[in-house]
Amino acid sequence: MDNFVYSQPVKIYFGAGKLKELSSIAEQNGYKRGALISDKVFVNSGLAQSIQELTPCIAGIFSDFSPNPMLSEVVKAVEKLKQWQVDFVVALGGGSALDLAKFACSMAHAEYGIREYFFHRQEFSVKGLPLFAVPSTAGTGSEVTSVSVCNDDETGIKAPLAHKNFLPEIAIIDSELTISVPPHITASTGIDALSHALEALWSVNHQPICDLWAIHSCKLIFANLEKAYSDGNDAVARDNMSLAALFAGLAFSVTKTAGCHACSYPLSIDYKLSHGEACGFTLDSFVCLNAAAENSRLEALAREMGFCNAEALADRIFEMKKRMGMKCTLDECGIEDVDALCQKCISHPLMNNNPIKPDMSQMRQFFENLR
Ligand SMILES: NC(=O)c1ccc[n+]([C@@H]2O[C@H](COP(=O)([O-])OP(=O)(O)OC[C@H]3O[C@@H](n4cnc5c(N)ncnc54)[C@H](O)[C@@H]3O)[C@@H](O)[C@H]2O)c1
Ligand SMILES: [Fe+2]
Repeated sequence: MDNFVYSQPVKIYFGAGKLKELSSIAEQNGYKRGALISDKVFVNSGLAQSIQELTPCIAGIFSDFSPNPMLSEVVKAVEKLKQWQVDFVVALGGGSALDLAKFACSMAHAEYGIREYFFHRQEFSVKGLPLFAVPSTAGTGSEVTSVSVCNDDETGIKAPLAHKNFLPEIAIIDSELTISVPPHITASTGIDALSHALEALWSVNHQPICDLWAIHSCKLIFANLEKAYSDGNDAVARDNMSLAALFAGLAFSVTKTAGCHACSYPLSIDYKLSHGEACGFTLDSFVCLNAAAENSRLEALAREMGFCNAEALADRIFEMKKRMGMKCTLDECGIEDVDALCQKCISHPLMNNNPIKPDMSQMRQFFENLR
């Protein structure tokens, strides 16, 4: 019998070209003076500046940060937000820009230094600045989650921090922004979204409302990701991928992710795989591993997605990764010390959300199969 809580507080504006309505969206929602935190790619293309021209209430643009945002970069952003005295923030970019902006918005009103929060020694006690999240990739779903993933410059630790303060006030999802995403990033961000949807389905916290979002997301991804990869200008495929990433975000924002994301942290920190490629590396293997634990449920879900069984679903993911030139073997990732990798994967907290908690020998076998 089902027993669950579901809540989704982010106001969502979706549509190709929607970002052009930024000025009126800010006005309708009562905001007067904002900052734009933008990925550098849009400063270089001039889009950030044209958004500022179209939106006179934007007081300044901050873009001084890298993919995989650093805590020191968040601190720099906070200085600007305070200097500009804004009452809202717009974040434009992929997961990196959105996650940096989430942390910066909360730090603008915080009492302690940033590492106190990052290392869970303090909790945010006051609300941060309201955030409008505008994703420019179809992947992370960060626009509807309470998670921010940042990197500590001092210790090299990359970790997700979840807090209700990090939930954006508004998400503006405009698939036209994703047209310029190059094929390899289309592939990795799309596989990240697929990982979110599948992990929401098999997370130990799975529940029926999230199942609906997740199944629909998977169907959209199987029908559109390779189209968007091979023709970046395919506006329908891009729009469907933006929708899929949103639905996957709505699903995992409640259930949290599981084994693939647990393994993605050592893979991206130690072997420099992008987040999506790191999640995708183990995704098809986790379909098979988890089907063994959740047999009838995962088989039924695979059939709802149009596959004859879970194994066919795993095969499809593998073929899709191969066709999109993603890394599929330990050698391609440069992984030699399998034991060290396994140790980090099995001890990652997200592994507790996986229906099977592999022990060292199962994990070793799991990665040996990827040789
Ligand atoms: N907060 C969450 O819930 C959540 C979920 C999953 C992943 N993440 C985090 O998000 C980050 C990854 O985000 P991402 O995959 O969106 O990548 P990203 O934001 O790091 O961007 C990847 C690259 O794509 C470029 N780019 C972005 N949009 C573009 C566009 N429209 N045109 C051309 N180039 C563009 C960026 O400049 C960058 O070089 C990781 O740090 C990951 O850990 C967060
Ligand atoms: Fe992810």
